[in-house]
Amino acid sequence: MDQSNLEQTLSGLPLAEIRFYPSLESTNDVAADWALSGAQDASLVVADQQRKGRGRLGRTWVTVPGMALAFSLVLLPTAQERAHAQTILSRFSGLGAVAVCHALRTHYHLPASIKWPNDVLVAGKKICGVLAEAQWIGSRPTAVILGIGVNIGARALPPQNVLRFPATSLQTESGISPARSLVLRHILAEILHWRSVLMAPVFMQSWQDNLAYLGEWVQLTAITQSGEPGALVAQGRLLGLDPDGALRLRTPTGQELSHRSGEIQLRPVDSFLK
Ligand code: BTN
Repeated sequence: MDQSNLEQTLSGLPLAEIRFYPSLESTNDVAADWALSGAQDASLVVADQQRKGRGRLGRTWVTVPGMALAFSLVLLPTAQERAHAQTILSRFSGLGAVAVCHALRTHYHLPASIKWPNDVLVAGKKICGVLAEAQWIGSRPTAVILGIGVNIGARALPPQNVLRFPATSLQTESGISPARSLVLRHILAEILHWRSVLMAPVFMQSWQDNLAYLGEWVQLTAITQSGEPGALVAQGRLLGLDPDGALRLRTPTGQELSHRSGEIQLRPVDSFLK
């Protein structure tokens, strides 16, 4: 993958400028600096290797050269999106996961699903992570940096002992290892499509329809400062999502609750029976 190969493979997509880096610290950081210095909507940063890739909740994200997709797209909220920032902004983080799910399913026949809020799973293992970060002037969101990492080759995975959650790759699950730039094209096409309907009910419907554990018993844990799983916040049956992306649960006593943050796990059946 290099600048000219990327420009060729991505040609025809309505992107602004594309910047490829053989190695950088984090595509989200480079895209954030670019946004601050006036990047246009749909400007793209792609890297072969990240030396300080970041995950959600201050976690590390490993990008092995030649094996993974790591990119960040600068999205500038429209006036309409800004006017509904409270509800709509969280949808940008769902946008990445919804797009990757559709791309993996359509082009690679993989049964991808979303572990709320925005991890993408295949066969119960994580294949992709999404880190959406907003920039603000006062209470006005000026840009969203949508960072996405996808494990493509089987050697993309970090050693088992540093994994918090089982991981997998496109090659492991589909038996093929397509050109990363082609996978990127498929994902970007989906992002641009779903972004155009971000405010519409169809977007929330797709985010919800693609949720892993829908209708199952899950537990929600708090997130600690260090990114470690914290105390149990709630448990219940996963009902779906609110318009702002909050997770809706029905507790064993029949109460319906919404939670905007935390981490979910499938609740072990034996713990539920206790
Ligand atoms: C997570 O699973 O916690 C989110 C991982 C997000 C990783 C991507 S890779 C491209 C972009 N640059 C980063 O530093 N992080 C995101």
